[in-house]
Amino acid sequence: MKPIYYPEPFRIKAVEPLKMLTRAEREKKLAEANYNEFALKAEDVYIDLLTDSGTNAMSSAQWSGVMMGDESYAGASSYFHLIENAKDIFGFEFIQPVHQGRAAEKVLIPILAEGKKYAIANMFFDTTRAHVGLAGCIPIDCVVPEALDTTCRADFKGNMDTEKLEKLIKEYGAENIAVIVETITNNSAGGQPVSVANIRETSRIAHKYGIPMMIDAARYAENSYFVKKREKEFANSSIKDIIHESFKCADCFTMSAKKDAIVNMGGLIGCRSKEIYDKVKQRCISFEGFVTYGGMSGRDLEALAIGLKEGLDEDYLRYRIGQMEYLAARLDEEGIAYQAPAGGHGIFVDAKKLLPHIPWYQYPGHTLALELYLEAGIRACDIGSYMLDRDPVTHEEQQSAFEFTRLAIPRRVYTQAHLDVIVDALINIRDRASEIKGYKIVEEAPVLRHFTAKLVPLK
Ligand code: F0G
Repeated sequence: MKPIYYPEPFRIKAVEPLKMLTRAEREKKLAEANYNEFALKAEDVYIDLLTDSGTNAMSSAQWSGVMMGDESYAGASSYFHLIENAKDIFGFEFIQPVHQGRAAEKVLIPILAEGKKYAIANMFFDTTRAHVGLAGCIPIDCVVPEALDTTCRADFKGNMDTEKLEKLIKEYGAENIAVIVETITNNSAGGQPVSVANIRETSRIAHKYGIPMMIDAARYAENSYFVKKREKEFANSSIKDIIHESFKCADCFTMSAKKDAIVNMGGLIGCRSKEIYDKVKQRCISFEGFVTYGGMSGRDLEALAIGLKEGLDEDYLRYRIGQMEYLAARLDEEGIAYQAPAGGHGIFVDAKKLLPHIPWYQYPGHTLALELYLEAGIRACDIGSYMLDRDPVTHEEQQSAFEFTRLAIPRRVYTQAHLDVIVDALINIRDRASEIKGYKIVEEAPVLRHFTAKLVPLK
C-alpha cells in the first residue's frame, strides 16, 4: 500500500530544541556509553524512540490543568476530577491512582496472588511478570501462535490462545491460578491488538473456573481503535463504547497512564470488589501515599484526568496509529521486515532478517539499535536475546523467540519528516548490512542486565 500520512489534528505551540551531532561525535558518545543506549544522555539523541512511555507531549488543556490542580494531602479536587473521568471511561466502581504502572502491579498483584501458584497472560510485560514472580507465582504466557511469525498479517496477533488457556487451567488446577491477564495492546508481541471477542472468551473461561480476570490496560485506547477498524461488530461504535465492552469482562485492571492517557507520569488500579479495594487502599497508603493522591502530585492528577479523555479522540487516534502505518508502508516498499501488521505504539523491526549474519548471541536487535544511533542519532532498544537475562539456574545465555529492534513512537512528538529520517536511516543500514558486526557483553547484572550492561564491538 502507498504510504499515507494522516495529518496532525493539532498545531505546535512549544518546542524542545534538539542537538544535531556529527557521526564522529556520536561514535565517541556511544563508546563512552559502553555501547549501551540507556547510558547515553538524552541531549545527545536526535530522535528518541527508546519508549512511548512518559515521553508524550501534553496539550494546552493539560498544561492549564497543571496550573489548576490543587496540591492537598487529602481530598484534592483534581483527585475527584480524575476519579469521575476514570469511572466514566472504564465503568469500574473503585479506582485508585498510583504513580505508574508497576506501582499498580506492586499494590494489586500480591492481593490476588495470596496462596496461589501461577498467573497466565496473553503475554506479560516485563514489570508485570516481575511482580507476579515477586508475589510468589509463576508467570505463564499463552499468546496465539500467529504472534511468533513476524510475516503473518493477522488482525489480532495479541490475542490469548483460549484453547491453550483452558488446557493450562486444567493442567495446573484452577484453585492454583491467581489471575488471568489480557495485556491490551500486547506490547511484548509488538503492540499487537486483542479483539473484544478474545477478551470476552478469556473472561468466560476465567469465570467458568472462578479465576479473576485482569486487564493490563496501558494502551486501552489504541487497542480500541484497532477493534473499531478490524472487528465488524464495532465498526460503528465509539472508542468509549469499545472500552466499556472490553472492560466489563474484567474484575480488575492495572494501568500505566504514561502511554494512552498522554501524561508523563501516572497509573491507575480499577476493581469491582469492595473487599479488594479495601486491601488496595491499605497497600497504597503504605507504598504510594494517601488514597486521594497515590504517589502523584495534584497537578499530575489533573493532567491525567484530562489526558484520559483526550486519548479517546478518533481524529487523534487515526493520526497516531497512522504514524505506525506510514512507517510500515515505507518499510514494505523497501522490503524491510518488521512485526506485521504494524502495532499501536511502534514498529518492531525484525533484526534477525536485516542482519542475518549476526547470530543471536551477538545480539542483532541491539546491534541494529546502536547502528541507528550511529547512522542518524536515533535511540531505539532491543527486544530479543540481549534483553533476556541468563538462565537463573544454569547461567547460560537464553535465545529469545524474537530479535526485534523496537522503534517506540512517543505521542504527539515527532513529525512526518522525523519518521522519514528513521526509514532513510534503516535503508542506509540495510544497504551496508553485511559490513556490520555484533557486540559482546563485558559486564552485566544478574537481572534486567540490558539497562546497565557494558559491551564492546566485535572485530
Ligand atoms: N504494562 C505494560 C503493557 C507496559 O508496556 C508497561 C510499561 C507497564 C505495564 C509498566 O508501566 O512503566 O508505568 O511502570 N512499558 C514501558 C515500555 C516501560 O517502554 O514499553 P510503567
